[in-house]
Amino acid sequence: MRQIYLDHNATTPVRKEVLDAMMPYFSEEYGNASSVYSMGQKARQKIDESRELIGSALGTEAADIIFTSGGTESNNFAIKGVAMANLNKGRHVITSNIEHPAVLEPCRFIEKELGFDVTYLPVDKYGVVDLDELKDSIRKDTILISIMFANNETGTIQPIKEIAKIARGNKIYFHTDAAQVLGKLPIDVEELGVDLCSFSGHKVYGPKGIGALYLRKGVKIIPFQHGGHHERNKRAGTENVPGIVGFGKAVEIADRDMKKNDAHLKKLTKKMWEELSKELKEIYLNGHPENRLSSTLNISFRYIEGESMVLNFDMKGIYASTGSACTSGSLEPSHVLTAMGVPPDMAQGSVRFSFGYENTEEDVDYCLAEIPPIVEKLRKMSPLC
Ligand SMILES: Cc1ncc(COP(=O)(O)O)c(C=O)c1O
Repeated sequence: MRQIYLDHNATTPVRKEVLDAMMPYFSEEYGNASSVYSMGQKARQKIDESRELIGSALGTEAADIIFTSGGTESNNFAIKGVAMANLNKGRHVITSNIEHPAVLEPCRFIEKELGFDVTYLPVDKYGVVDLDELKDSIRKDTILISIMFANNETGTIQPIKEIAKIARGNKIYFHTDAAQVLGKLPIDVEELGVDLCSFSGHKVYGPKGIGALYLRKGVKIIPFQHGGHHERNKRAGTENVPGIVGFGKAVEIADRDMKKNDAHLKKLTKKMWEELSKELKEIYLNGHPENRLSSTLNISFRYIEGESMVLNFDMKGIYASTGSACTSGSLEPSHVLTAMGVPPDMAQGSVRFSFGYENTEEDVDYCLAEIPPIVEKLRKMSPLC
């Protein structure tokens, strides 16, 4: 049976070129980058090269890139680290209620353990934060704003440059979770004016368990992990050399192919949505109609459950999901769709299709042939219909 992977927002396959670049660093050039002899120094050199590649793809210096174990750690480091380092300035943080759990949970942690007040900004029906609400929620004791770059469930993109301007104008640090954006949209951290920015390797055809935090010079932050003097004393622990090498390679390729891939993804998702909405009644696109990642289609199918669609699609070799990998399996409707005002039954009936550069038009044709009969079959069985 054909297998069509449409869950690239959950994770991506490691590209062949990335794997090839990583392989020597497992059992041939396996030195510890802190060792002074040549094998160690070769590892150090490869780490430096990757840091350069990533820094230059992000419009910044290599020195501002700190390698972490992924998006979750980068977000935790940014939020808890800034909160702990700036207690004397204030205990108020602003975020939004559509963030990934890797931002929401650290925010809840600082509320509970450090006595912070966190404002969770609402969003409009497209999932966009209102800038006036943001301005109104700023207080004298606000030390950090953390708003994601693009949402993992809907792909909706936030006005990051404007938010950064508001934050800077009020002398508040601004962190953005760009895990879903790296390799898909150009990111120039200097031009955007962000202070901290989180990235993940496995969303960009790199390996799992590696990520990075962009940390602008001068940002007051307390390290999360203590030990050796790695990552300029900001993140102790022996470096994951193969992971770092793979991450660097993945970012280099994604940056090189970004325009081409974006045009390709736009074409695929446009066709999928247009044809599905012609074929099926009562289906709705969640997220911003244009200002959205080209790869992401989040669709609500009235009268049926997302979970049952995903299981039925799986039987036809189509891999999609009901939302973020971290929250799937929970019976609660998506917090992102709920925040956008999507009614509970429609939120429960949503499926996220997230495409990757390796998907083809034939994949879309296959989905267009298989999905409508599954939806019709489930609707016939539905007590809501
Ligand atoms: C927006 C966003 N932030 C953070 C993460 C977590 O990244 P990681 O899996 O690298 O910890 C993800 C992954 O699902 C994500 O989509």
